[in-house]
Amino acid sequence: MKKVLFAPVILAASLAANGVLAAEPAKPVKPAAAPPEIQQMMKVYTPEMRQKVMALSPELKATIQQLHAGHPRRAKETTLRQIMLEILSEYQTIAMAIAMDNPEAAADAARRLAGHRIPKGGLLPYFPLTQVNDADLGVLPAMNTAVEGSALKLAEAAEAGDMPRAASYLSDIMTGCVACHIKFRPAVPGLSTSLIAAPAK
Ligand code: HEC
Repeated sequence: MKKVLFAPVILAASLAANGVLAAEPAKPVKPAAAPPEIQQMMKVYTPEMRQKVMALSPELKATIQQLHAGHPRRAKETTLRQIMLEILSEYQTIAMAIAMDNPEAAADAARRLAGHRIPKGGLLPYFPLTQVNDADLGVLPAMNTAVEGSALKLAEAAEAGDMPRAASYLSDIMTGCVACHIKFRPAVPGLSTSLIAAPAK
């Protein structure tokens, strides 16, 4: 059927006729622009961090855009660490409410936890530069499901009056916290430069 393919001119004509060739001459492929939310965040990034984010695949950029879209509250100046402490406080409030058998307080705190703000610049600038790549960041949706998905399930269970089931989600939430810390958190927070390093064992 495609015997004519050996002659380049005829090939081009044939491809054009089949709609394979666009009318425009071929242009070099430009990398897809980052989604608007990410472009906005990148304005406050250092050139190094911006480069890392630009190098992420369009799929991962879309995932991050989606995760952010699920959190419409934006911090102006609050850092990830400050937001983490707020989240811990909500977690403790949930535990208190469950211990008191107070479904309303438990559901409210769980929804506040799930609805935390996005820190200044988004999550990425608080992660080590070396982990801002497709492979490492690919785990973020799973972390989000473990922490916030479980918090929302906890709220629903509490509102349905099923406090034993609500209580069971506490450990699912904390499993998500721990998993993310193992992967992305600096090993020892709050190291002091005024302490002598421990002698080698
Ligand atoms: C998406 C990953 C991620 C998830 C999920 C996560 N954390 Fe964090 N958390 C971090 C990172 C990264 C830091 C270090 C931030 C910094 O120091 O700039 C941190 C820091 C903290 C801190 C500050 C003190 C410290 O040890 O550095 C607390 C408290 C904390 N997280 C609690 C929680 C709790 C509670 C949850 C679950 C309800 C949770 N985190 C879920 C990534 C995460």
